Amino acid sequence: MPSLPFTARNLLAPMEGVTDPLFRRLVLDLHSPNDLGGTFTEFLRVSNQARTARTIQEHLGPQGPIPVGLQLMGSASEALIQTARTAVDSGVKLIDLNFGCPSKGALKGCAGSSLLDDPKSLEGVVADIHAAVGEQVPVTAKLRAGGEDDELLEDLIRAACAGGAAMVTLHARTRREAYAPLAPWERLARAVAASSVPLCGNGGINTHQDFERMRSETGCQYAMVGRAALGNPWIFSGHEPDAAECADFLLSYADGLLARNAPLRGTVSRLKQLLRHWSVGGIAEGPDGRRSWLHERDPNKVMDRLHALQTDLQPAHRFGQ
Ligand SMILES: Cc1cc2nc3c(=O)[nH]c(=O)nc-3n(C[C@H](O)[C@H](O)[C@H](O)COP(=O)(O)O)c2cc1C
Repeated sequence: MPSLPFTARNLLAPMEGVTDPLFRRLVLDLHSPNDLGGTFTEFLRVSNQARTARTIQEHLGPQGPIPVGLQLMGSASEALIQTARTAVDSGVKLIDLNFGCPSKGALKGCAGSSLLDDPKSLEGVVADIHAAVGEQVPVTAKLRAGGEDDELLEDLIRAACAGGAAMVTLHARTRREAYAPLAPWERLARAVAASSVPLCGNGGINTHQDFERMRSETGCQYAMVGRAALGNPWIFSGHEPDAAECADFLLSYADGLLARNAPLRGTVSRLKQLLRHWSVGGIAEGPDGRRSWLHERDPNKVMDRLHALQTDLQPAHRFGQ
């Protein structure tokens, strides 16, 4: 089985609508491969038709020293198999299968978290993709702890392993729990015990220290962060940025979106998506600090405020230098 391409044991989670190639590049550029070991594309939905090499490349974006796995979501079908083959021919280093998405569309299409109620079918999807490309690249699976409850947790982990997964990522919440504040890590320890391959824990990492704490409390080999990385893109190294560095990051993100012809209002909405989670540099401290960004209706004022914060930035720290 090909080995996992990760360069370190802290990973960035896929997040649809956020971790697009632009956001990923900004976060990856802040880190050395020793701090951030890998990440994934947002899920690429595969229904009846296989996705093209061009779509796959657009999803992946430019590649650097930190590997980016392609995440696919679909049910066992020729289209999914064909897409995985095209991805490998296009140079993808890892294929991750999504069994966690709780959206109605995924459930209707018997994809994403719908397979959490049916370990045998989940195993079948992993086995099909593993048979198609598993000799060339690792195939991994990202699951939740169950559908309505966590009773099938061990069965699901064993199913993913039996299908040939090279790593299983477990988001410790069930589909029913959605994004509840608590992500019970004891489920990660149960998953580690049931798994014959490396386990990546996910759910509820809020600080840099939590990566190691998750590994030591649960025994998982890799730890993956989602939303806390939106509010602290430096979370993988533990660097504590000041307000100017934060503004520089956010403005670089805005510049990238504007360069792709996104309208200013839409661009500022994307910034607010990050500011909703922002936790470093003191720029969104306390409920009022955050509210003052989120309630500002004039997008120009949000940009002006960020430019004002950025003026304190030392030239050597300017993004990309
Ligand atoms: C906005 C958003 C989009 C997401 N999109 C995906 C996705 O495309 N694929 C996936 O496997 N998980 C997706 N997730 C789930 C995350 O990868 C992760 O499992 C979840 O946020 C739990 O980790 P956290 O508690 O660190 O945020 C998404 C989560 C959020 C908040």
